[in-house]
Amino acid sequence: MSLKTSTAILSLTAAALMMSACAQKKETPMSSSITKASFGKLADGAAVDIYTLKNAAGMEAAITTYGGRIVSLKTVGRDGKFADVVLGFDNLEGYLGDNPYFGALVGRYGNRIAKGHFKLDGKDYKLAVNNGVNSLHGGLKGFDKVLWTGREVPGGDPSLELTYVSKDGEEGYPGTLTQKVTYTLTAANELKIDYSATTDQDTVVNVTNHSYFNLAGQGQGDVLGHVVQLSAAKFTPVDAGLIPTGELKSVEGTPFDFRQPTAIGARINAADEQIKLGGGYDHNFVVDGTPGTLRPVARVTEPVSGRVLEVSTTEPGVQFYTGNFLDGTVKGKGGVAYAKRSGFCLETQHFPDSPNHPDFPTTTLKPGAEYKSTTLFKFSVQ
Ligand code: BGC
Repeated sequence: MSLKTSTAILSLTAAALMMSACAQKKETPMSSSITKASFGKLADGAAVDIYTLKNAAGMEAAITTYGGRIVSLKTVGRDGKFADVVLGFDNLEGYLGDNPYFGALVGRYGNRIAKGHFKLDGKDYKLAVNNGVNSLHGGLKGFDKVLWTGREVPGGDPSLELTYVSKDGEEGYPGTLTQKVTYTLTAANELKIDYSATTDQDTVVNVTNHSYFNLAGQGQGDVLGHVVQLSAAKFTPVDAGLIPTGELKSVEGTPFDFRQPTAIGARINAADEQIKLGGGYDHNFVVDGTPGTLRPVARVTEPVSGRVLEVSTTEPGVQFYTGNFLDGTVKGKGGVAYAKRSGFCLETQHFPDSPNHPDFPTTTLKPGAEYKSTTLFKFSVQ
């Protein structure tokens, strides 16, 4: 055999081997995993971690212990390609800078409490005020800006438990609150968030996640073409400070009727008093069905990528916020300026300002009782 021929046979064999290795790699099913890495340090030297949860289908969720924030969420589109569908930053510095709660856990009280004041057991409580005269999303240093303790939950789907102990009097809230939030990525492409809390004194609690979604992929323009369906026959109209008036209003005949799938942009500039007050959608919807049971809240589709997001919750309400206050000043992942309405939020929650509305489902938590709440974000393609 000539040298030339044997070299040719050798390289053919090498190519065949490589091909079979590739084929083998393709056939090997991916397995689910959870990994932990450093995400940097806070000014006081405290170490911040980032956990990456992956399922066998390739979906991926990265969550940092700073603010319990969802940093990235990679889901597959109709073209088979994965895209990151949440707004945020590439590094910790971004999250430490000014930003509107990207991906964050918000608490103790997600949403607004009028004039940062409420009465509990006949006692007046004055909260940190950070939104005009009102208290928003837990105050000046809410759950979005604190360091949580992470723990991988062994066995089953990749799961991360975060714990934060909020001291008595923190941001004006009574009682020491031990808050736990568990993020689990299921094999069915669901990101499940379980919240639980206990207290040593009567207090109020209402925790949620503030992710901004763009199902075309973060940084891919506005969300006006996304089609939304909400299981909500009523919403809670607001005053100029976005505090509920107390009325539960029917959505019938208003731009708030999303009972049939409707594009976000279809009525967002309607000549409607509530739309004007919110600068678009920034309202709490009353989720149909029985609070405390996991039931459908929303189905959102993005026609071009084919991505579908279905949300279900045990909470009585959901804040549908269309990123009206984003104005391009915040530069996110890859330096992209997040313009107005480049993301939408579905913050499952108790109604805003509940401590001042005895008619609303209660947000009071007493010692010996456990606060429990579950929300599921399920991704698919159509
Ligand atoms: C509120 C908006 C607010 C946004 C960011 C939403 O939950 O409803 O009014 O601008 O959070 O802070």
